[in-house]
Amino acid sequence: MDANRTEIERWILSNLTPQPSTTAELMYERMESQSGQCLPVLYEPLDNTKRSHWHDEALIGAFAHALGDASIILDVGPGDGWPALRIADRFKKIIGIDPSPRRVRVQRENAERLDIDNVEFLVMDAEEMTFKNGSFGGVTAASSIEQCANPEKALQEVFRVLAPGGTLAMIFEDYDSCLGTGEGDEKLRCELTGTEAVVFYQIRRKSPPRETWYALFLDRERLNADPEFLEAVENISETPVELEGAPGGDGAVARSETFGVTLLAGFAPLVADTKYFELNHLTSGTVDKLLARVGFADVLHLDHRMPELLAFFDAARDAGKLGPNGPVLDVVAEVFGISAVERAGDGPGDFVIAKKPG
Ligand SMILES: C[S@@+](CC[C@H](N)C(=O)[O-])C[C@H]1O[C@@H](n2cnc3c(N)ncnc32)[C@H](O)[C@@H]1O
Repeated sequence: MDANRTEIERWILSNLTPQPSTTAELMYERMESQSGQCLPVLYEPLDNTKRSHWHDEALIGAFAHALGDASIILDVGPGDGWPALRIADRFKKIIGIDPSPRRVRVQRENAERLDIDNVEFLVMDAEEMTFKNGSFGGVTAASSIEQCANPEKALQEVFRVLAPGGTLAMIFEDYDSCLGTGEGDEKLRCELTGTEAVVFYQIRRKSPPRETWYALFLDRERLNADPEFLEAVENISETPVELEGAPGGDGAVARSETFGVTLLAGFAPLVADTKYFELNHLTSGTVDKLLARVGFADVLHLDHRMPELLAFFDAARDAGKLGPNGPVLDVVAEVFGISAVERAGDGPGDFVIAKKPG
């Protein structure tokens, strides 16, 4: 067995026969709203005097600017409809694809509620698209390529469906910066609904850059019948708990995963089904290699937190130049034009623009 596996993981693999699954099934299909319903325009009136709204608008400006005068755009993994629904007024048609039927339902509901009719959302996996070669002038992918089981296969498909000369504009979670200086972390948490009880164990490792989730589906009826177990499951939380009588004196704290296999072994008789997914994450180094291998050229990197733009926001707001509905897109395009989108380079950055050679 892989020596890199944690103790809990080794125990799960030896005792529970986990079946392979996907992020779409274990994460996104389970979420009522992928974004927590806080996206401007999609869920809240746009107010550009709020930093988060202005930042969102800046990213939309970056996508629109990068895709230029393309007409038909593919959005990979739109979640609640982002950026598809936000860039729709700039292009003739947007098609969004997502393997989670629930996400697609939410995307369609949001389109209808916002009265946007040049968008179409389809249940489809980015790794196996049914579109003909060269169907799209541009592709957007926001935090979705790294959620695919095989990011390289997804990028190959993106390349195939892009027209020659077409542009990919993608945001990805740079795994190097998201784990900071640590080697990784592990988390245990639980989701309890009226009909379901699922214990999730999540491990993120830096080397190799891999994230694994195990989902232990407990028998809800048997759990209900056993108040002690139910209380133990309810108490699984990411919040540290106080350890009574622990060595080190009163008030010592630990997270649930500290109890490790002892805790999980206690639940084992109640586990009806175990599933897992594994992600090989992207870093700014690996994304460049993948894009090149797939055939993309002219790769530009921006930092999607865009420090220059946020500094610009702060200065403009402090000078009283921003209104709730101010002309952010134009300002952003102008600022991008001089400081970001046109800035070529191969440094780190998690907003990437790449071209399919014409
Ligand atoms: C982190 S969310 C990002 C959502 C949205 N783009 C945003 O930025 O708010 C990832 C999205 O990718 C979708 N996804 C996961 N696997 C996918 C795949 N193989 N092909 C296409 N989309 C996928 C998920 O269902 C989810 O909607």
